[in-house]
Order: sequence, then C-alpha cells, then structure tokens
Amino acid sequence: MTQWWKDAVVYQIYPRSFNDTTGNGIGDIKGITEKLPYLNRLGIDVIWLSPVYQSPNDDNGYDISDYHAIMDDFGTMDDFHEMLNVADQFNIKIMMDLVVNHTSDEHKWFIESKSSKNNPYRDYYIWKDPKPNGEPPTNWGAHFGGSTWEYDEQTEQYYLHLFSKKQPDLNWENESLRRDIYDMMLFWLDKGVAGFRMDVINMISKDPEYPDGELQATGFGDGAPFYLNGPKVHDYLQEMNREVLSKHETITVGEMPGANVEQAKLYTGKDRDELDMVFHFEHVGLGEGELGKFSPEEWRLTELKEIFSSWQKGLDQVGWNSLYWSNHDQPRAISRFGDERERYRVKSGKMLATCLHMLKGTPYIFQGEELGMTNVRFDSIQDYRDLETLNAYDDLLSRKLLTENEMMEAIYQRGRDNARTPMHWSNDKNGGFTEGTPWIPVNPNYTTINADLVLDQPDSIFYYYQKLIQLRKEHEIIVEGTYEDLLKDHESLFCYKRVYKEQELVVLCNFTDNRVEFELPESIELTEEPLITNDSTPIIQSDQTYQLEPYQASVYLIQK
Ligand code: NOJ
Repeated sequence: MTQWWKDAVVYQIYPRSFNDTTGNGIGDIKGITEKLPYLNRLGIDVIWLSPVYQSPNDDNGYDISDYHAIMDDFGTMDDFHEMLNVADQFNIKIMMDLVVNHTSDEHKWFIESKSSKNNPYRDYYIWKDPKPNGEPPTNWGAHFGGSTWEYDEQTEQYYLHLFSKKQPDLNWENESLRRDIYDMMLFWLDKGVAGFRMDVINMISKDPEYPDGELQATGFGDGAPFYLNGPKVHDYLQEMNREVLSKHETITVGEMPGANVEQAKLYTGKDRDELDMVFHFEHVGLGEGELGKFSPEEWRLTELKEIFSSWQKGLDQVGWNSLYWSNHDQPRAISRFGDERERYRVKSGKMLATCLHMLKGTPYIFQGEELGMTNVRFDSIQDYRDLETLNAYDDLLSRKLLTENEMMEAIYQRGRDNARTPMHWSNDKNGGFTEGTPWIPVNPNYTTINADLVLDQPDSIFYYYQKLIQLRKEHEIIVEGTYEDLLKDHESLFCYKRVYKEQELVVLCNFTDNRVEFELPESIELTEEPLITNDSTPIIQSDQTYQLEPYQASVYLIQK
C-alpha cells in the first residue's frame, strides 16, 4: 500500500453549513460540487465529508438511519456521484465519515431489534436487564447528558447509548453486524470514495463486565474506562483492515477521544494493519474543568507544546499524526488558540496555520479556517441548535451547577455551534450561503470575513494557506523531517526544528500579542529570507538574539 496521504492536506466539509443551492436553508451536495473549483484553488487533496447519509438529524447526521442512502436534505445519490466525478477531475479525493459505534434509533436494524427479544437483530445492539433494584445496568453518564441507558417498556430491558438516546450503540461482538458494516464500507469504496474518518471508533469494544464508574460532578459515573480502547478494539480494526481497507488504497483516520500516544502507536503502527492516523483530543481538551468543556479554565502554552511534542516524537518512524486545530465539534481555531480581535485575527490565524502545517503529519483544515472565521455569540439560547449545547444548558442550569451567564460564556468559548454557523461566501444576504432562512443563524461578521474578500486580497489568509499547502508539495522535509522542540519552557513562543537529510527547517511562532525577544541555540543560523512569514519585520537583532512581533510566525529553510 502506498502512503499517499502523507503529503496530502485534508479539508473538512460540514455539509449542512457549507453551501445551499436549493434555498431550503441547508447546505447540500450540489453546493459542494459548485465549490470544488474554490477548493482546488486552495490546493487541498482530500475532502473529509461529515455524514451525508439518511438521518433524522438528532445529531446532524451522526445518527444514521440508512447507510446506503443520501440524506434528503442534502440531495440524491446522483448528486453524490456527480460530486465524486467532478472532484476526480480536480484530483480531489473524498473521505466519508463512518459512524458505526451507533446508528439512529430509526435505523431498520434498531426497529427490528427493539421489536422483541427473539428478533434476529436483537443482538445488533446492547441490551441489558435492569439492576435488581430496577436501576439502569450501570451508572454511566452519556456524552449528551443523562444516563447511557434507556429503558424499553415492551421488552423490559435497557439499551446502551453512549451519546443521545436516539443513537443506540451497536454490538460489535456480533459477527453478522460486523459483516454488514464491512459490506457497507465496500459499497462506498466501490463507488470511488477514498477512505473513512471513523467516528469515535475507539468506543466500539466495551468491557463485557459493564462495571459502574467513578461518580462525577455530573451525578453520573464515568464509564469511559470501560468503553474507551476496549479489549477487542484492535481485533475489530485488524479484521476491518483485512476485510475492507486492504482491498483499496484508502486513507483512514480514527476519531479517538481519550487515546494517548502509546495507544496511537497501536492504532497507527506501520506493521499493525489498523488505521493510518488518529484524531486525539489532548490539545483540544486543554483547560477542561470539573464540568468538562462547559467549565473552561486557563491553560498554558507549555502544556500545549508538550502535547504536540509528545505526539511528534512518539509517532515518529512508528505511526503517523493527524494535525488539526478545529473541526465541527470544536470552537473556531482563531478564537480558541489565536486572537479574534480584528487587529490580530488574520495574523494569529496565519500563525496558527504555520505552526500546524509545518509539523510532521497530515494537516486538516476545517471549512472557514481559510477565511479566518471566528466563534459566534448569539444573544439567546434559542439561536443554538446543537443538542450537546442545548442539553447541557438545561441540565447544568436546572441543577444550578452554572448560572445562565456562566453557561452562555462557556457556550461562546466552547460550544459546537461556533464551528457550525454557515460558511461566508460573500457580502450578500446570509453570507451568500443560502437564499432562504439558514438552519442556524449566520455569524454577523460575514460582512468583513468572507471568501470574496479573501480571494481579492493577495496577502489574505486564504492565499497564506494556499502557500503552506504548496510548500508541503515542494519540500520533502515538511513531510519527512524529524521534529525537535526548541525553547521548550517558553510560555509565549512555540519554536521547533525539523531535520531531514542536509536540511533544517526552523519554525518560530509567537502565540502572544507582545513583542518577544529570545535566543536560539548557537547551532542555528537563520537565513536572511524566510520560506514563509506572516510579518516581514526582520527577526534577527544581532548574533543569536532575535525578536518576534505579536503573533509573528516565520519559517526558515537552512542548507547544512
Ligand atoms: C463525534 C462527532 O464528531 C460528533 O459530532 C458526534 O456528535 C459524536 N461523535 C457522536 O457521533
């Protein structure tokens, strides 16, 4: 198998919020096809498409009711084929989202499964008797609030749902379920999709004992130790690889909350025949308080750097890294890790892009990142759509764990809808996303942040991303070089070096709004001209004394 995805750059599309061509307020597949020339201009190689399968949209497509059909809101299978064809003309590959830890409760398997204890599909899901006192089988709390168990009156058992009760967990112990999933994956690969981003794939194997978890501030037990990276997860992934992935030249990335570097070595290890990459959560989980993301706390740059360094070093020569700042579940990168004040918005966005794209691994760009989009602050909870946010709002307020103000502030910082407001294409009504009423309001700052504007400005963040992508194609060191951290203990600067053959790549990024003076080891001699920078102010002060302007990022390529 070739490892073609090593020098690829992936662009994530959240279809619901990308581009609406029908005026129903919801993005669609034709809308993606229409924008392929734009993506081609950016220079990306692969699109990761968040789910487009049939779904009642309890969780915007992450609750699938038919894996073989396209969601009505998004169009038809013909639209999908057309998108694949046009993408192919641009040499852009499509990576599907694969959501197989759970289905929708409206999937025909679940409808059958629920109908009686003897139904052949009963065992496709995880059903358990109540505890002797009638309580749910375990005390685990679900990711979207409440218990992970829902009682079914008719058959007098509980079913497991790690997410919402409309997302029942599949039972991977069942061989024919696994066979059905593999066949479904082949169905899409045979159409010409390039691979899969696998939703919470490290949750598919549960501890067969189903023990109670340690009690949390939420009032529920922590089930994670009993379903994250469970006992058979590697067997299942190896089987999937044998039965499906090894038959095509695929790209795969497993979304893995709670996975650490050691586990990632097993998931992505060269000789292990499982996955190509994982999405870990260590950097995006920084500063989670007692109530998780809804009680955000301060974090330090040294913590962030330590996380990146440990993944860079840990997977070097062993596995492969994915690199991301944001996605449809995370706040916007600039608001989270940069500085969204207008003075620094673009500059800090370019700095973040530099820092990420020069690391070893496959970078992922989330739609709108190349425009410099930011978080949104809706005045009213009524404007929010995400079930995680809405459930947490009800739950944390009713239990008086947070005040309304604290909750809204937490949503502004961390809520998932920050990433899900529609793409800004132009200055037209609704940012050019739709001619109808958008399913979620558009961020009002579309008048100053939009695609038309960035395409018109030669020094825009769009063209900066374009250049970063080109550099990856031109310089093998960006793909292959080893990583060494520099100024490890510095609280303002993220500096590192990549080394390959006779070359060194030195990457210097200022994460603050201060001008910072610093020294570099004597062995590093910077060239006059950076390979790329977001600020042409010279950084060399004198021998080994340097200075970075606020949010300045500069990269130097040195021939030894
Ligand atoms: C992770 C997905 O990225 C998220 O959007 C979804 O809600 C959960 N998994 C459940 O599928």
